[in-house]
Amino acid sequence: MAKQKSPEKSLEEDRGAEGKKKKIKKHRDQTWAKEGPRDPFEMLDSLPEEKQQEIQKALHLFSFVQGPPKNLQEARKHTYRFWDTQPVPKIDEEVTSHGPIKSEMPNVREESYSLPQEFIWDTLDLGNQEQLRELCDLLNENYMEEDDNTLRLHYSPQFLLWALCPPGGQSQWHCGVRVNSSQKLVGFISAIPATIKVFDTELKMVEVNFLCVHKKLRSKRMAPVLIKEITRRVHQQGISQAVYGTSAVLPKPIATCRYWHRWLNPRKLIELNFSSLTRNMTLQRALKLNRLPETTKTAGLRPMTVQDVLVVQALLREHLKAFHLSPVLTLEDVKHWLLPQDGVIDTYVVESMVGTVTDMVSFYTLPSTALNHPVHKGLKAACGLYCISKATPLLQLMEDTLIICKAKGFDVFSAVDVMDNKAFLEPLKFRMGDVHKQYYLYNWRCPEISSDKVIKQCVIV
Ligand SMILES: CC(C)(COP(=O)(O)OP(=O)(O)OC[C@H]1O[C@@H](n2cnc3c(N)ncnc32)[C@H](O)[C@@H]1OP(=O)(O)O)[C@@H](O)C(=O)NCCC(=O)NCCS
Repeated sequence: MAKQKSPEKSLEEDRGAEGKKKKIKKHRDQTWAKEGPRDPFEMLDSLPEEKQQEIQKALHLFSFVQGPPKNLQEARKHTYRFWDTQPVPKIDEEVTSHGPIKSEMPNVREESYSLPQEFIWDTLDLGNQEQLRELCDLLNENYMEEDDNTLRLHYSPQFLLWALCPPGGQSQWHCGVRVNSSQKLVGFISAIPATIKVFDTELKMVEVNFLCVHKKLRSKRMAPVLIKEITRRVHQQGISQAVYGTSAVLPKPIATCRYWHRWLNPRKLIELNFSSLTRNMTLQRALKLNRLPETTKTAGLRPMTVQDVLVVQALLREHLKAFHLSPVLTLEDVKHWLLPQDGVIDTYVVESMVGTVTDMVSFYTLPSTALNHPVHKGLKAACGLYCISKATPLLQLMEDTLIICKAKGFDVFSAVDVMDNKAFLEPLKFRMGDVHKQYYLYNWRCPEISSDKVIKQCVIV
């Protein structure tokens, strides 16, 4: 097989080199698309589903492909060919100052970065049902970091509209890559506008999310091209900072958090291999340990309505002041992110006897499909977003939230150890998960932030 040159490298050389058409052509001939048959997807897709799963399991088990570092030790040994060219601090840099890394807005190139000739850029129109469905399919089949192919995330169209179309969102920030011949969607990256307070500075930036490359095109340097293209499109709107999160360790995390999980349906979680029993834990003991009261304790706990938007915004603004990385939400943002939508987002408020809203808690829904399981079709996870307890004790408010989630048919409640969450995780029998989440800022330097000073961003999932 001919040794391939990465599209990223090609692009570096290609930049501004209008007159060097021959050279570009040569690079295109050597790019990541040219492995195997012309459209390998068709070939693989034509195999029976079970065969595809077997292949994926084997690839996972015997994977020799090295992904990005998963911890700091690995990160120190890793050469960041792409990230070392970007305005981010170096992995071992000790940052004590605050401010932009590049203060001048770069000259923004007019045209998109070039792709190998088999591929084309496509800005997705998420108002179009078919394109929205294609994005769901791409993410549901490929948006997972570890894949032993037993549980598969299942983003619904409504969830993606919620996550990707907030107020002020721009359609050109829904950036897809298709195979030219088949029009199959094989890559995606998105940005949404956000005002984020970093220590004492409020910055208009974007949250970059849903970076996804089709499994069969991995490790071919497609991710850097997607990142550069979204950066270009964001620069075009005069924005030069971004926040993003991933389990990969890249230069350089501003905060590191960990996922915790509270079992609501232990039997199912074990049967689905989502969780396992430790040596001294039988299923009976797990069921007993995780049992919850039948009814909630907090008087006045009810779903948020549109009438609560103003007061919820005020609660959030007041509460979020204490954190070093937190969103600044307008009324429109609060409406969009927090008003309950079935199967997408739930928010509950506590209304006192005199009609004052004193507390709030919110979580979003993240279902997965169980593949080829004899009994279970899927798993329903609730993911904690904001929790503000002023009049109601935090433990009581969160226990009531767990009770509500169990009644709504959720199997597990997941939370990150951000905000004040550490205060309820162990007392309410959450178990520490394996996955860490690192948060990053693009083109902004600041000292590291401890997880309890971070507010989980709305859609960094
Ligand atoms: C994340 C993903 C797009 C990376 O693609 P890939 O094919 O593995 O990697 P590529 O060969 O294209 O690019 C490698 C470069 O991207 C970087 N990279 C990998 N994952 C990254 C991430 N999540 N965010 C930013 N950069 C990432 C690598 O560090 C490497 O750059 P380096 O040389 O500076 O170290 C792909 O693994 C994927 O779709 N994963 C599932 C979804 C997911 O985990 N998305 C990230 C969560 S937001």
